[in-house]
Amino acid sequence: MAKMEVKTSLLDDMIGVGDMVLLEPLNEDSFINNLKKRFDHNEVYTYIGSVVISINPYRSLPIYTPEKVEEYRNRNFYELSPHIFALSDEAYRSLRDQDKDQCILITGESGAGKTEASKLVMSYVAAVCGKGAEVNQVKEQLLQSNPVLEAFGNAKTVRNDNSSRFGKYMDIEFDFKGDPLGGVISNYLLEKSRVVKQPRGERNFHIFYQILSGASEEFLCKLKLERDFSRYNYLGLDSATVNGVDDASNFRTVRNAMQIVGFMDHETQSVFEVVAAVLKLGNIEFKPESRANGLDESKIKDKNELKEICELTGIDQSVLERAFSFRTVEAKQEKVSTTLNVAQAYYARDALAKNLYSRLFSWLVTRINESIKAQTKVRKKVMGVLDIYGFEIFEDNSFEQFIINYCNEKLQQIFIELTLKEEQEEYIREGIEWTHIEYFNNAIICDLIENNQTGILAMLDEECLRPGTVTDDTFLEKLNQVCATHQHFESRMSKCSRFLNDTSLPHSCFRIQHYAGKVMYQVEGFVDKNNDLLYRDLSQAMWKANHSLIKALFPEGNPAKINLKRPPTAGSQFKASVATLMKNLQTKNPNYIRCIKPNDKKAANIFNEALVCHQIRYLGLLENVRVRRAGYAFRQPYEPCLERYKMLCKQTWPHWRGPARAGVEVLFNELGIPEEEFSFGRSKIFIRNPRTLFKLEDLRKQRLEDLATLIGKIYRGWKCRTRFLLMKKCQIVIASWYRRYSQQKKYQKIKSSAITVQSYIRGWKARKLLRELKHLKRCNEAATVIAAYWHGTQARRELKRLKEEARRKHAVAVIWAYWLGLKVRREYRKFFRANAGRKIYEFTLQRLMQKYFLEMKNKMPSLSPIDKNWPARPYLFLDSTHKELKRLFHLWRCKKYRDQFTDQQKLIYEEKLEASELFKDKKALYPASVGQPFQGAYLEISENPKYKKLKDAVDEKIIIAEVVNKINRANGKAASRIFLLTKNNVLLADQKSGTIKSEVPLGDVTKVSMSSQNDGFFAVHLKEGSEAASKGDFLLSSDHVIEMATKLYRTTLSQTKQKLNIEISDEFLVQFKQDKVCVKFIQGSQKNGNIPTCKRKNNRLLEVAIP
Ligand SMILES: Nc1ncnc2c1ncn2[C@@H]1O[C@H](COP(=O)(O)OP(=O)(O)O)[C@@H](O)[C@H]1O
Ligand SMILES: [Mg+2]
Repeated sequence: MAKMEVKTSLLDDMIGVGDMVLLEPLNEDSFINNLKKRFDHNEVYTYIGSVVISINPYRSLPIYTPEKVEEYRNRNFYELSPHIFALSDEAYRSLRDQDKDQCILITGESGAGKTEASKLVMSYVAAVCGKGAEVNQVKEQLLQSNPVLEAFGNAKTVRNDNSSRFGKYMDIEFDFKGDPLGGVISNYLLEKSRVVKQPRGERNFHIFYQILSGASEEFLCKLKLERDFSRYNYLGLDSATVNGVDDASNFRTVRNAMQIVGFMDHETQSVFEVVAAVLKLGNIEFKPESRANGLDESKIKDKNELKEICELTGIDQSVLERAFSFRTVEAKQEKVSTTLNVAQAYYARDALAKNLYSRLFSWLVTRINESIKAQTKVRKKVMGVLDIYGFEIFEDNSFEQFIINYCNEKLQQIFIELTLKEEQEEYIREGIEWTHIEYFNNAIICDLIENNQTGILAMLDEECLRPGTVTDDTFLEKLNQVCATHQHFESRMSKCSRFLNDTSLPHSCFRIQHYAGKVMYQVEGFVDKNNDLLYRDLSQAMWKANHSLIKALFPEGNPAKINLKRPPTAGSQFKASVATLMKNLQTKNPNYIRCIKPNDKKAANIFNEALVCHQIRYLGLLENVRVRRAGYAFRQPYEPCLERYKMLCKQTWPHWRGPARAGVEVLFNELGIPEEEFSFGRSKIFIRNPRTLFKLEDLRKQRLEDLATLIGKIYRGWKCRTRFLLMKKCQIVIASWYRRYSQQKKYQKIKSSAITVQSYIRGWKARKLLRELKHLKRCNEAATVIAAYWHGTQARRELKRLKEEARRKHAVAVIWAYWLGLKVRREYRKFFRANAGRKIYEFTLQRLMQKYFLEMKNKMPSLSPIDKNWPARPYLFLDSTHKELKRLFHLWRCKKYRDQFTDQQKLIYEEKLEASELFKDKKALYPASVGQPFQGAYLEISENPKYKKLKDAVDEKIIIAEVVNKINRANGKAASRIFLLTKNNVLLADQKSGTIKSEVPLGDVTKVSMSSQNDGFFAVHLKEGSEAASKGDFLLSSDHVIEMATKLYRTTLSQTKQKLNIEISDEFLVQFKQDKVCVKFIQGSQKNGNIPTCKRKNNRLLEVAIP
């Protein structure tokens, strides 16, 4: 339902009338009754054209839910029942879509609901504008600036538990898409007198109570505060707690909001320090102290509080103390210091507290602005929301009320200017004849206050600046002189005769007849408050504070920037800022919310008619309605009008093709509405009487019912038809699908049957063919078998015949041979006996021999002389032949083998043969020497330069040159000697030097002795009496003893033709000089390993141990 585009109207389901313009008849009673009726039905909003009247319900109504936001979103203003959201939506959309800067002006008395209304507008705009992380942060910061400012700037008053004690104007800035970019807040005149004194039944600013109830013990201790309200003189005690307000939880909200808005922790801390300092300032008390000059000087009673303040704020205690006791006046390079009396000291204290607090408040606004400032430089669209203090009438009204009420006068002025003027301008724009309407213009009151020459503010300033004694009374006197004749000014002394007798007016008061009622102002305090004086000593003391925030709050305290010129007065400052505000508002498209308070009790469901009536009067709401309806009660652009009523006429229903205006003309003519009842503007139709509109509405309602029936009927017909068509379509689809399906099935069945039949036929054919082929094959096989059998039989028969034939032939041959043999034997019987036997024998022998040799030829063994193989003997009678043959063959192959030798080899073999003859089976060493070739010259004498001398000495051919051990006869030890054998001599030479030790001609060698064992010892015996024999025989040992002995034997044989005697014996005698020593070889001693050792046993015995 919510989403469906239903064209509704304000006029639907209306309680009373939603738009006062339609009120019939229009008078005060009906106006109030209409409001009351709506109020009783919880309809707190009512329109006057585009102005929203809001009555404070004093209880929460379920009309601000997100669903409601959605309901009002993007709807026309008059489409739904009156609501503040409708106005917000209208303003936001014309800002976004038509690029018109907007301002929302919320006016009304204190407690009428202005602040709530401003918050509702902001939250609505926040809900409908763009989304996204960045945008949400901006929104959140904008919304969270409210709790902070309310905590510091709102207080409980008798009229409102959460009364704004400052004026606030907030510009919300948007980009071209309508996403919020940031904002700027302006604040107007905080009611700072509240800091030091509150009227009965009222409280100081919320923040003081919030700190004391909400801060933790630790935090309080840090701020040097105590939780007890009664400890602080500045806190009014009679209503310290407010019903339904939880200061402690609000404190948490505020701190949280400060964090979201972007306050740093140290900034928050500083802010609370200043608040604590203000609170504690109130506890400083003074006492008089007489001085020598007879004047009283004030002194601080208890310095403890002062000390704590100074600790908290980093102010030098002595400086502050002095500032409370003295005042320095500077005039034309002169400095005069005067003492303060107690009253002046209190004044100074309160002035300081007020200034500290109000400057802190302005700093907060600046700080918030810094956070919420738009970050881009793109062109912005602006929606301003003005929530300024409402018109105030208290028992005692002072400067603040005067200022506040002046501001309200100005707002009323701008309201009058903009709405009434705008109304008249619309008629002119639309080209409709205009009849002027009388209304009260409060410009005259504004002039009374703000006129630059004769205005009350101007005079107050004049008084303040005037030299000489200036008091509030002199100011009043001046007023009495200048304003006496003004219609809206009254005082006891005024010259206006009308009020001369007015004894209700006390002295030192004046009364102004504001547009919203008469207000009596106490003149006391006007001058002071306008001067807003803070002694320079105090501001300098503050500037010197070691506290960055406090220092920043008092820039004028900087001695370097001393300014003797007076600062602008509070009044003139306010006038100027209001003027800027008004200028600003005039550039924007205004949207009005006029708040009305239904009762003075802050109670729900009570509608005090007299109170409401008073507000309606001074707000000029009836005049507003009248102007709105002057001539025409209702207007509407042609398009929506035609859209709403086109069903009332056949030509315009359901569609009108031409221009909307012509359509409306046709429509109104058709309906027969009298011509004087309406008028055609350029873009709107104007209806004179609400009656006519209601008539139109009734007709529409009736027609709508008919149309609903018609639509229902057509719809049902259409629905049935579409359903039928759909079903038909479905049926066709289903049928076609079904037919396809069944045909498919049928086809598949036929196909599979055909395949079955086909396969049967093919099977049958194949089997038939197989049978035929098998038959054929069997026939072929049978024929082959038969043929084979036949051929077999044939062959066997032939074989049998051939065998038979062969047997017969053989038999014939045998028989023939036998026959022949018989014949031969018979014939040769007589010769055979004489020769045949011998011949057969010889022949047979010859044959056997032949066979034997031929076989031998094939069985010959290898040509190697050492091959022992020889074939076996075949016949016994060949035994000796066979052996001889073996011997011959061996000799032959040996010869063959020898024939291969060279002369050299032959010589070697001859020597070897000689050795064999000499030592074989005689000396155990011999077999080992067989494999060693005889080399003779083991020592290369000719090549080694060491033996050159030796070589030169021996010019014969050297047969042996080898190193031998010569055994010492004395001890059996060995010494190396070179043993040389030449053709004629045996020589022994020193191994190292090569000098010849002994030379024996071969003829002198008689014998060589050696053992039968496996040793290399040999003795060379010399001829007794020869020259060489003088030294005795040689006992030597050598590795080549066999070769040496052999060669010695052969050389001796060839030279001397005598055989050298070689004695092989294990015991022989050797001639040593004169003695004969026996050399004995002992087998088996293992003493010295494998080497035979020689040892002299006694004079006659040399023992050689052989392993
Ligand atoms: N629309 C509303 N719905 C419910 N209560 C409201 C509404 N408007 C105002 N109030 C109540 O009235 C009190 C005063 O409203 P406020 O806006 O502070 O007045 P003003 O700013 O005009 O002095 C609020 O604290 C709230 O309790
Ligand atoms: Mg307020």
